Amino acid sequence: MLNWDEASHPLGVAEMDATHREFTALVNLLADSDDADFAALFERLLEHCRKHFTSEGRLMRISRFPALGEHEAEHHRIYGDLVQMQRAVQRGRLALPRAFVRNGLAEWFPLHLGSMDAALAAHLKKVGEAPALSGNALPVLG
Ligand SMILES: [Fe+2]
Ligand SMILES: [Fe+2]
Repeated sequence: MLNWDEASHPLGVAEMDATHREFTALVNLLADSDDADFAALFERLLEHCRKHFTSEGRLMRISRFPALGEHEAEHHRIYGDLVQMQRAVQRGRLALPRAFVRNGLAEWFPLHLGSMDAALAAHLKKVGEAPALSGNALPVLG
C-alpha cells in the first residue's frame, strides 16, 4: 500500500500533486482488488502513467529542466516494466503484476517523488512558471 501524506508529499505544483494523488489511489485500488477487477484497473494505471509521464515531460520542456534526460529515462524504464506486466495480466497471470504493484511500485514511487519529481517541482517554482502551468497560457517550447 502507498500512503499519501498531505503534510509531506505535495510538492507545491498543483498539476503534479493532483497526478500523484491519483497515482497513489490507483495503486492502492489495485493492491486491494480481486482478480476479476485487476485487469481493468491495471489498464487504468497504464493509461494514468502514460498521461502522468507525458505531463511531467511537458513541464520539463517548457521550463527547460536540466535533468530532463535522467527523469524521462526513469519514466520510460517504469513504463516499460508496466507494459511487460500488462502482457502477463492479459494472459491471466496476475501473481507477478500483483507483486510489482504491491512491492515494486510501492517502493519506487516514494523514492521517485522525493528525488526526481521533487527536483522538478523545485525547478518549476524557481523559474517562476509554476502558477501558469495549470492553464494554457504558456507556449510549448522546443
Ligand atoms: Fe510524478
Ligand atoms: Fe516523474
